[in-house]
Amino acid sequence: MKKRIAVLAGDGIGPEIVAEAMKVLKAVAAKCGHEFIFDERLAGGAAYDATGDCLPQDTLSACKKADAVLLGAVGGPKWDGLPAQMRPEKRALLTLRKELGLFANLRPAIVWEPLKKASPLRGDIVGERLDILVVRELTGGVYFGEHSISADGLSAKDVMAYSVREIERISKVAFEAARKRRGLVTSVDKANVLATSRLWRETVERVHRESFGDVALEHMYVDNAAMQLLRVPGRFDTILTENMFGDILSDEASQITGSIGMLPSASVGDGGFGMYEPIHGSAPDIAGEGIANPLATILSAAMMLRMSFAMASEADMIEVAVGRALKGGARTADIGGEISTAAMGDAVAESI
Ligand SMILES: NC(=O)c1ccc[n+]([C@@H]2O[C@H](COP(=O)([O-])OP(=O)(O)OC[C@H]3O[C@@H](n4cnc5c(N)ncnc54)[C@H](O)[C@@H]3O)[C@@H](O)[C@H]2O)c1
Repeated sequence: MKKRIAVLAGDGIGPEIVAEAMKVLKAVAAKCGHEFIFDERLAGGAAYDATGDCLPQDTLSACKKADAVLLGAVGGPKWDGLPAQMRPEKRALLTLRKELGLFANLRPAIVWEPLKKASPLRGDIVGERLDILVVRELTGGVYFGEHSISADGLSAKDVMAYSVREIERISKVAFEAARKRRGLVTSVDKANVLATSRLWRETVERVHRESFGDVALEHMYVDNAAMQLLRVPGRFDTILTENMFGDILSDEASQITGSIGMLPSASVGDGGFGMYEPIHGSAPDIAGEGIANPLATILSAAMMLRMSFAMASEADMIEVAVGRALKGGARTADIGGEISTAAMGDAVAESI
């Protein structure tokens, strides 16, 4: 199969970790007879320095022409002084999500067996295997409602709004994902207080009834979900939730796994297109040292193969290779070792 991947390495450690993900993708292509065309473009502060815009038009066009986007990270202290609208995080990331119609954010939080000790939770709480997928709505809710402060400065409001259409499409993403996992969706809301949550619950139930009877569905209030994630994280399979609750719960879930350098993510829209990136930032404190952990980016590439290219066995191949590399003792500094970014990429690529 031939696929075009827009590659936006970005800033800080971005180029270092993305190079390792490309190395692993090349190993998969060679083994499985695929052709991946890497269309490398500038984004973030690097693009600003070269063109005066953190998301140049040719970068956006390349993303729109591609079958998927692989992103490193953008931003850093050098560009923190730019006006808000021009900053890498706002101009590049939010514009890409909006322009590419990416309304669903998927963040798997997996505790890898060899790294169990890295979890801040006790081994008996983490259990045998922890594998949670948070499906977060990305373009609605209170973050996108009207924000205002009164003229006298004594009150403020943020409007939280959801439409049935927005809830339906994110619900379908979660049910479809759960179908390929352990088949349980926990829909998280605050239906005892919020009208948007009551509409959320009603709509999720209808989508479930109409099309996903084979998947189990339960509802949970967000305060309880935050607690259960720490008490019995293994009870969760797929968590479906709105934008702000998902922002908070996905960070909580990710921390259970121990290292930010291990966690991939996917932002997807309709029709299989997606943008894949590690959940961490550009780590300016270690940029250029060749010590960053590339596994989150490599695992993001695996998500890309599975979700955008329907290459499930190739995605499995990468995940198995990561497991093997860890089992064999490969560790970057953040997970207690001292091998380089490139050596970690080599360990995974060789295992492919
Ligand atoms: N999606 C994105 O592009 C994205 C996301 C978050 C933050 N940012 C931006 O990144 C910059 C730095 O943000 P920050 O410092 O708050 O968060 P960060 O995630 O970049 O770093 C937090 C800490 O984790 C470490 N770390 C992160 N990734 C690592 C990896 N792969 N291997 C080893 N250690 C790793 C860093 O060294 C740092 O100590 C900021 O400009 C921020 O706005 C970008």
